[in-house]
Amino acid sequence: MREHPAQATPHDAEVARFGAMRRALMRARDEGQRKWGSDFIDLSGSAPLAAWPSDDAVAGALAVGRPTRGYGAPEGTPAARAAAARYFSRSTGVPFGPENVLITAGALGGLSATLATVCRPGHDVAVATPYYHAHPSLVELAGGRAVRVAAGGDGRIGPSALAGQEPQALLFANPANPTGVTYDRRQVAALAAGLPAGAPIVVDEVYADYVYQPGDFASVAEVLPADDAARWAVVRSASKTLGRPGLRIGVVLGPARLVEAIADRVAALTGAASLPAQEAFVSGLAEITEVDHVRPYRRRLDVAMALCRRLGLTAQPPQGAYFLWVDGSGAGHLDTAVRLCAEAGVFAWPGAYFGATSHLRVSLAVPLRSLETGLERIAASLTAKRTDDGRLPVS
Ligand SMILES: Cc1ncc(COP(=O)(O)O)c(C=O)c1O
Repeated sequence: MREHPAQATPHDAEVARFGAMRRALMRARDEGQRKWGSDFIDLSGSAPLAAWPSDDAVAGALAVGRPTRGYGAPEGTPAARAAAARYFSRSTGVPFGPENVLITAGALGGLSATLATVCRPGHDVAVATPYYHAHPSLVELAGGRAVRVAAGGDGRIGPSALAGQEPQALLFANPANPTGVTYDRRQVAALAAGLPAGAPIVVDEVYADYVYQPGDFASVAEVLPADDAARWAVVRSASKTLGRPGLRIGVVLGPARLVEAIADRVAALTGAASLPAQEAFVSGLAEITEVDHVRPYRRRLDVAMALCRRLGLTAQPPQGAYFLWVDGSGAGHLDTAVRLCAEAGVFAWPGAYFGATSHLRVSLAVPLRSLETGLERIAASLTAKRTDDGRLPVS
């Protein structure tokens, strides 16, 4: 994986820049869909293929009007906090109580309240790059400066990447979207040790249920103590854990004192997460104790990796999540994605959206046939566009 140089960005530029990029890409996708009709292939999906609980159970929870007659506590309902504490205690081995849990309006609601808590105006927040597209904007909205920290050859950031930066906080995803790399216990501990003393760590762990080899991933909650002085927070999501992004339920886990401070921001930012959605969340968690979240993706991953090799596309198999981070000089430019929509009838998020123009992100959460045809079209288009020096011409 290539190096992406660390750089700071102007304080007010992030939200506008990502907004413009997203709108341009959505326009290109719409136009591609109009041109190609049912032959258009969308490889951008980030919603899982499977969902829990059943649609009937969700319909039941949402049909009960009573909860919508009142306000909920910004911390979440006692039932949802207790159910989340049980589920995440079991999956991490960390004894969480309800006081360690906040139920939020999606992971994004949880991340924004958490960053509003740990970030002060002008703080430098180290953001592992490639990043989930919203991370720099979230830092900016919290008044901080997103300082891109480049992943090394293995796709991860390590303590040496932080050396000399003295960031006031760290934000990274584990497992990472878009690259699919994970950090194990040793790597998380080393990163924490590489930060200035007391600097908070916010870890976006929404894909924690989607890890192909369990030992490859460790939650920061398993690595750092949860005493009163501790300054780490974990964000999880029903969008991934239950495959139901439309519920808009996220979870923040952390030391009780920090969780209390984050709840104060939730009370001012979004208020309580939807109460009927919290009921559906509780039913869903009860259903997934024996679920193998990655099962639908193992075969897709094997097929996609074999196909990439045959087509001359380079990709490292992910350790987590359900994306393939496909390498190709210039493949991740915005213009390349726009051209793929029009000329190849296929859409995938370009690396530019994640801070790395060297790659594009292909979702495995699509029908197998779409994945195969989509990769074939991407390979054909990228190859056809190469100039003599092997680069993609980018206008
Ligand atoms: C890494 C990462 N963080 C956060 C989110 C947002 O999650 P939510 O739908 O719970 O707001 C996503 C959604 O795809 C994601 O990939």
